[in-house]
Amino acid sequence: MTQIDAVLAHIDANIDASLARMQELVRFKSISTDPAFKNECRKAAEWLSAALEDIGFDGSVRETPGHPMVVGHDKDAAEKPGPDVLFYGHYDVQPVDPLNLWNSDPFDPAIVEQKGVKVMTGRGTSDDKGQLLTFLEACRAFKAVHGSLPVKVSVLLEGEEESGSHSLLPFLHAHKDELSKDLALVCDTTMFDETTPAMTTMLRGLVGEEITITAADRDLHSGTYGGPAANPIRVLARILADLHDDQGRVQIPHFYEGVPELSDEVKAQWDALPFDGKAFLGEVGLSIPTGETGYSIYEQINARPTCEFNGISGGYTGDGFKTVIASKASVKISCRLVGQQDPHAIRENLRAFVKARVPADCSVDFAEHGANPAHSLPADFAPLQQGAKALRDEWGKEPIQMGMGGSIPIVGEFKTILGMDSLLIGFALDGDNIHSPNEKYNIESYHRGIRSWARVLAALAE
Ligand code: BES
Ligand code: ZN
Repeated sequence: MTQIDAVLAHIDANIDASLARMQELVRFKSISTDPAFKNECRKAAEWLSAALEDIGFDGSVRETPGHPMVVGHDKDAAEKPGPDVLFYGHYDVQPVDPLNLWNSDPFDPAIVEQKGVKVMTGRGTSDDKGQLLTFLEACRAFKAVHGSLPVKVSVLLEGEEESGSHSLLPFLHAHKDELSKDLALVCDTTMFDETTPAMTTMLRGLVGEEITITAADRDLHSGTYGGPAANPIRVLARILADLHDDQGRVQIPHFYEGVPELSDEVKAQWDALPFDGKAFLGEVGLSIPTGETGYSIYEQINARPTCEFNGISGGYTGDGFKTVIASKASVKISCRLVGQQDPHAIRENLRAFVKARVPADCSVDFAEHGANPAHSLPADFAPLQQGAKALRDEWGKEPIQMGMGGSIPIVGEFKTILGMDSLLIGFALDGDNIHSPNEKYNIESYHRGIRSWARVLAALAE
C-alpha cells in the first residue's frame, strides 16, 4: 500500500466516527450575528480547539472584540517538503429563521436519506462546519496512520464570517508573522455539480448596507393620519423600485465602473460548461431569470454585480392586522461586486442615490455591514496543478476552475495583508440550502471531501 492508500483506507474505515464528530460540532448554535448566541459561539470555538489538540496541534481560542478565533499549529517540528499552509474555515452559521420551514431541528443533526442520497441535515452542515471538518479529519487520518502530516500545517477558524468578519482585519494585522504562510487552503465553496469537483478562482465582493427612513415621531392611526402623514414604507418602496430598471440593471450612478466584460475565450469556455440554467432555477421552483438581460444565468451569478434586498421591515408584521402608519421603515441591502468595482465608492453612491429621493419631511440613517472587493486568483497559480491532480485522482474527473457568486472576505485579506494566495476547494452543492431552511451536506461530500484533502496534502508535498 502506498502512503496515501493507507490514509484513504483509514478514512473509509473510520467514517462513522468522523460523522459523529460532525454531529457534535453542528449541535452548537453558533449564530454569529445574534448576540443571544455568543456563548454558543464560544463553545464551538472551544470544541474546535480541543479537536486540534486531539490531532497533535497546539489548539488555542483567541479573544477578539467579537467572537473568538481558533488557531492551531501542528506540533510536529520536523522539516517538511512543499509549502507551509494555513487552512481557513468558519465555525459560525447563519440564523435559522423561518424555523417553521425546517423539517427537523436545525441544531439536532440527523443522517437521513433524501431522494435516494444520504445526507446530514442541520444549520452549518454544509456552510461551513462539515466542510471545515473535511480538512481536520484528513489531518487526523494522516496522523493516525503515519504519525505526521506531509506538509507543515496551521489552522485558522473564524467565528464571524457570516456577520461581516469585524475582528478579522485587526486580528490578521496583529498576528501577521504567526499566520503568514506560503499558501492558504480554504474549504467553503461548492463543487461544480454532484460528480464534478471544482476549484474556485473568482469570488464576488460584497457591500452590506442598512437604510432606515423615519417619518413621523411615532406610529400613527392610519385612518386619522393616513393621506397627509408621510408613510416611510411608501418612501422606501419607491426608492427601492428605482434601484433597478426593467432590464435588471442597477441604477446607482457609476455602479458598473470596474466591471470587466468577459473575453471571448472565457465566454466560450463558460458556454461549453454543462451548466443547466433551467435546472438551476427549477430546483428552487423558478423558471424566469431576473438578472441583467443579455447575460446567461451562469454569467449573472459569476461575472455580473448585483444589488439585492435581503430584508425589509416596518409597520405591523405580526399575525392579524393593524391599521397603522409606521414611523420607520428599513431595508438591508447587499451589493455583490466583480472585477475592480470599489466597495467604498459604491456605498457612497448608493447613499447619495437614496438621499436624493428622501422627501424633506423624512430623514434617513445608514448603517454599514461590511465591504470587500471581488477577488480572482492569478491564472498561473501553481497549487492549482496539485489541487487538480488530487481531485482528479479522487473523483475520476477533470476538476473545473470556476467563479462563485458568494463572497469569502478573508480570501482578499489573506492576499493584501499576509501576501498569501488561496486554493479554494469545497464539496458543498448548490442544492445544499446554505442560508436557507433545511441545510444539509451529502455524506458523500463529507467522506470524499476528507479523502480529497488527504490527497491534496500529499500532492502538495510532491
Ligand atoms: N460559504 C459561503 C460563500 C459561498 C456562497 C460559497 C455560495 C459558495 C456558494 C460563505 O460562508 C458566505 O455565505 N459568505 C457570506 C459573506 C458575507 C456575509 C460577507 C456571503 O457570501 O453572503
Ligand atoms: Zn461559508
